[in-house]
Amino acid sequence: MPISDTFGRPLKNLRISVTDRCNLRCQYCMPEEDYVWLPRKDILEFEEISAVVDVFADLGVDKVRLTGGEPLLRHDLPELVRLLAKKPALRDLAMTTNGVLLAEQAPALKAAGLHRVTVSLDTVRPDRFEKLTRRKNHAHVIEGLRAVPRAGFTDTKVDTVVMRGVNDDELADLIEFCRPLPAEVRFIEYMDVGGATQWSMKDVVSRAEMLLAIERRYGRIEPVVEETSAPADRYRLPDGTVFGIISSTTAPFCQQCDRSRLTADGMWYLCLYALKGTDLRGPLRRGASVDELKALITGRWRARDDRGAEERLARRERSPLVAKSALKKDPHLEMHTRGG
Ligand code: GTP
Ligand code: 5AD
Ligand code: SF4
Repeated sequence: MPISDTFGRPLKNLRISVTDRCNLRCQYCMPEEDYVWLPRKDILEFEEISAVVDVFADLGVDKVRLTGGEPLLRHDLPELVRLLAKKPALRDLAMTTNGVLLAEQAPALKAAGLHRVTVSLDTVRPDRFEKLTRRKNHAHVIEGLRAVPRAGFTDTKVDTVVMRGVNDDELADLIEFCRPLPAEVRFIEYMDVGGATQWSMKDVVSRAEMLLAIERRYGRIEPVVEETSAPADRYRLPDGTVFGIISSTTAPFCQQCDRSRLTADGMWYLCLYALKGTDLRGPLRRGASVDELKALITGRWRARDDRGAEERLARRERSPLVAKSALKKDPHLEMHTRGG
């Protein structure tokens, strides 16, 4: 039986950031060139991550997603995948990557036992990609995406953060691009969290607006009716193509939120918007027993009352959650540190 928080939400889903480093500089996440990075000595070893996952799995976690920064920058990542893939309790082991290094690593990740891959891609246009990410790797990402089915992966997804005036005219192009890969594209509302210091409500394209634009192009869209689809609402086009929308900004899914996140240095956050986390690295490295770790995690989860995105929605005036100066003081508040 998974443990439940104060709203009865079970702890099922753990997002593990394996590095805070990234090889892109997406405007909505890492608008600066340089950052305060986590000290190397603090980064959890693969064995430490594996031990922590065992504790979480015993408490009911059955979905793990590896994130970053960019997870493929972590040396030897397939080795961690191998350790995690051996755990029968994990019915889903996935990764979110920007795809730059995917072409070279997809076969090894598949062989190591990774189940699924989600690739972030915000534009099909190389010139826009360069403007948005400040890097010239568009072709690598496209090659990476093509390598995913070739390596034998299925259920691949593409994550697109939609920003007004930046890529909101590309929804259909992205649907067309993803269909033959095959991959399911999910359009994500721009969120006011972490490094999104240039966030403004004016730049958010809402789910309602996205649906209107897609409907204008394709005709009637049917919602896909399913039990548990958080965080994405899924829709079907007349030709059967399915896409998703993650409306964390205008219609949050906090009520179904069963997720928490572990940073690369072992801080555990219960909400994407949380300002404080729980240090698991300290107890782990001091030799805490499995029972002690379980008690710590259980205590925190049972007391959990986070509904960060809903609270943000309720505000009249909305500006970025944290200012640049605060992010510099505590890099744990960054999206690239807590893994999106
Ligand atoms: P699956 O549904 O298992 O495929 O994974 P996922 O959608 O959780 O993973 P992914 O990394 O693709 O997440 C997609 C996006 O949803 C993220 O990049 C965030 O923008 C948003 N998101 C992820 N987790 C949370 C969360 O806990 N709260 C909110 N509000 N948004 C989240
Ligand atoms: N708003 C929405 N999603 C974001 N991500 C990062 N920053 C934001 C933001 N401000 C998500 C994107 C990206 C993943 C790594 O993190 O989905 O694909
Ligand atoms: Fe969960 Fe917090 Fe995201 Fe809401 S904002 S869905 S509670 S992580």
